[in-house]
Amino acid sequence: MEPCGGASLPVRDAATGEVIAHVPAATADQARAAVDAASAALPKWAGTPVAVRADLLRRCASRSRAQRERLADIITAEVGKPLAESLAEVDYSADYFDSAADECGRLHTEVLPPRRSGRVQSAEPQPIGVVAAVTPWNFPLAMLARKTAPALAAGCTQVAKPAEETPLSALALAEILVVEGLPDGALNVITGAPEPIVHAWLADGRVRKVSFTGSTEVGRLLMRGAATQLVRLSLELGGHAPFLVFADADISGAVDAAILGKFRVAGQTCICPNRFIVHASVVQDFGERLATAAAALPIGLGRTPGVRVGPLISDEAVARVSAHVKDAVDRGGRVLTGGATVRVPHCVDRFFAPTVIAGATPSMRCFNEETFGPLAPIASVESDDAMIRMANATPYGLAGYAFSSDPDRVAWAAKHLQCGIVGCNTTAVSDAYAPFGGRGWSGFGREGGRWGVDEYLAWKYVCEARSEPLTSR
Ligand code: SIN
Repeated sequence: MEPCGGASLPVRDAATGEVIAHVPAATADQARAAVDAASAALPKWAGTPVAVRADLLRRCASRSRAQRERLADIITAEVGKPLAESLAEVDYSADYFDSAADECGRLHTEVLPPRRSGRVQSAEPQPIGVVAAVTPWNFPLAMLARKTAPALAAGCTQVAKPAEETPLSALALAEILVVEGLPDGALNVITGAPEPIVHAWLADGRVRKVSFTGSTEVGRLLMRGAATQLVRLSLELGGHAPFLVFADADISGAVDAAILGKFRVAGQTCICPNRFIVHASVVQDFGERLATAAAALPIGLGRTPGVRVGPLISDEAVARVSAHVKDAVDRGGRVLTGGATVRVPHCVDRFFAPTVIAGATPSMRCFNEETFGPLAPIASVESDDAMIRMANATPYGLAGYAFSSDPDRVAWAAKHLQCGIVGCNTTAVSDAYAPFGGRGWSGFGREGGRWGVDEYLAWKYVCEARSEPLTSR
């Protein structure tokens, strides 16, 4: 569709606060116009042979990889994350396109094995129609890719609303799809504040699904809003991941994984460990080593080579992390490193030092709420059973991690952790070919691989009675 006219929103460099662009602030009417465009494009795209759809998705993956540096630069500007993380995000995003293209090969009518003579039964995968994607700012390219690629693979057309902080990555991805030949109206990126746009989409009976990544609170609002039109939902919501270190864990491996998982995007990922639950026999060693490694992480501008920790996304985020630190200290926690913001010249005051707190307890806010920042609180626990009990004492259930050198112990932990994703001796779990999603307050629905494409399909079952039994001739 054509660009929206009217009001605009500034887009800022997350580290410096400088305005780097303006994008339209779409109205409800403009959001509905996007649905008009997606609806008009639906018959043609749904009727495009799956092999042609797959080919386009693969070309999009290749073009994204070819523009890796440019895309990573946009991500780093909008989010503030280190360039190496942004480059990894571009690769992750491209993988979603390849994964969805692979799945196209599976999208054909399945003839059921005969159960009675005189009947032919089949199941046909049909696109569910126009779908909406509402994406977060922490992975502005990859989170759109993992909603757009499977939707297009399934034959759906899409309207998409990126987070206000990070629309440029989404627009860059849409541009790549257009250059690769995606028909007009098949993807419509709408920028602006969420309320008018998302309300318009939920009320519009033509939008048959909304896929959202963001907070549990907003997920609840979407569920209420989806009731009238019975809009299908995929909700990837807040996490509160436990990180279990058993007595026999390789401590240096666990520390490396904790650093990677906890401080990626400055702790602003849904799957980052939020609660460190460590066996009492190794808790001091783990805590000291984690604090030393965390204190050594270079903080600064994402574009500066070697920087590992960028800014938090907003002043509210800084206030929340600070409040969690203060609450933990008030309740007896000991700050081993960090605990406050650090000044980076010519930048916003949102760089929060990687923080490790020992002596964490379940009464602390950080053990009950998602911090979404660079805070690693460590609790000491006496037994394996108690570690699992503490890990599961939450309504959230996105990711969980277990570290032990005994394969049976990690298998036992993986079995008992009540969450959608488990990392055993690793925090590097993200994979475009695997099912990503949670349970409980972390939402429902899966993204990635065949699971991701299934979310955009409605299977039509056709049962045909034949007057003559089918016999061999
Ligand atoms: C998220 O935490 O929001 C997504 C993380 C990922 O896919 O790696």
